[in-house]
Amino acid sequence: MTTDPNSTEVRVSDADRVVIFDTTLRDGEQCPGATMTYEEKLEVAECLDQMGVDIIEAGFPIASDGDFEAVSAIAGRVKNATVAGLARAVFADIDRAGDAVKHAKRGRIHTFVSTSPIHLAHQMRKTEAEVLEIITATVTRARNLVEDVEWSAMDATRTGIDYLCQCVDAAIKAGATTINLPDTVGYATPEEYAAMFRMVRERVPSSDKVRFSTHCHNDLGLAVANSLAALDGGARQIECTINGIGERAGNAALEEIVMAIKTRADRLPYATGIDATMLSRASRLVSAVTNFPVQYNKAIVGRNAFAHESGIHQDGILKYQQTYEIMTPESVGVGKSSLVMGKHSGRNAFRSKLKELGYELGENAFEDAFVRFKSLADRKKHVYDEDIEALVDEGIAHMHD
Ligand code: KIV
Ligand code: ZN
Repeated sequence: MTTDPNSTEVRVSDADRVVIFDTTLRDGEQCPGATMTYEEKLEVAECLDQMGVDIIEAGFPIASDGDFEAVSAIAGRVKNATVAGLARAVFADIDRAGDAVKHAKRGRIHTFVSTSPIHLAHQMRKTEAEVLEIITATVTRARNLVEDVEWSAMDATRTGIDYLCQCVDAAIKAGATTINLPDTVGYATPEEYAAMFRMVRERVPSSDKVRFSTHCHNDLGLAVANSLAALDGGARQIECTINGIGERAGNAALEEIVMAIKTRADRLPYATGIDATMLSRASRLVSAVTNFPVQYNKAIVGRNAFAHESGIHQDGILKYQQTYEIMTPESVGVGKSSLVMGKHSGRNAFRSKLKELGYELGENAFEDAFVRFKSLADRKKHVYDEDIEALVDEGIAHMHD
């Protein structure tokens, strides 16, 4: 096993290329309060495209005229990515989505219907046979409009495997090119999610003609783990959002998926087309336009992700960065690691901070400053550079009294 963050030792074949489907502009926008304006959506789409996202789900065109306009504009402007529009299993939705993506270099209609008994009985009030007919009719309709059709079995993880296989079979026969099996309510565990993909792929004829996709919600905090486990079951598309925003507890976080694959290439021998050095910028942009702060301890992009406070960790980092960092901050577009000065900091970090601030103290002056720094850190939550400068200057002034 290697922990070298720049390691390219593990080679991956085309079959192990994982397609990144970003749904920040659709499922992410369903995060309560995260609505984006037309201009903001365009800005986010441009950033995702530059970053190397393969498919941008730009919105839900039937939802509003604004969403339709945004999806159409993104479809017309995006240079590399496929642009997808979401549609329920209703002809009017599908036609509207088809219209919205028709100017894209590569346009996709993403249509979905619920398949679980709980949704069929209480929400759709339809029988299994009726839903199978709907799948055939709606996927056929979409396929008559575009070449690239994704079909999703909403609430797949609470659907019986036999019926799920029948639905997938119907969608493939009607022309779907990607089959998405979402964990809509964030209920699955990694082992069972991987097993579901394995079983469906084994049982449904022509499974090898389509790409299987994951779409995980984070209700139990397992969205990223489930998405990665599904790769083991044969999925090769992951649906995710920047900062993990999305309905309820959110979706699988794009930055975590990408960096897990990059950092643990020994256990996850796959590749994505993402330029990881843009992750930090994308995170800041999405946070700014949605007004959703990123939690301090958020993996990869949180402000503490490369900050060290304990004396032992600071000492390790100063000697050799990989003692306490499994990826470099530069690899995700963060300037550099930071040593946060606080009551847990030790002499080594304090000395390095003084050097950074331009001080060279003799041993006695250093000890005196260190004792006063510790006492200040006990009283004050954040010790800033200015606090340290003040206490050192004060010590120097005393010596000259
Ligand atoms: O969570 C879900 O099932 C969805 C579908 C529309 C794919 O967002
Ligand atoms: Zn979703």
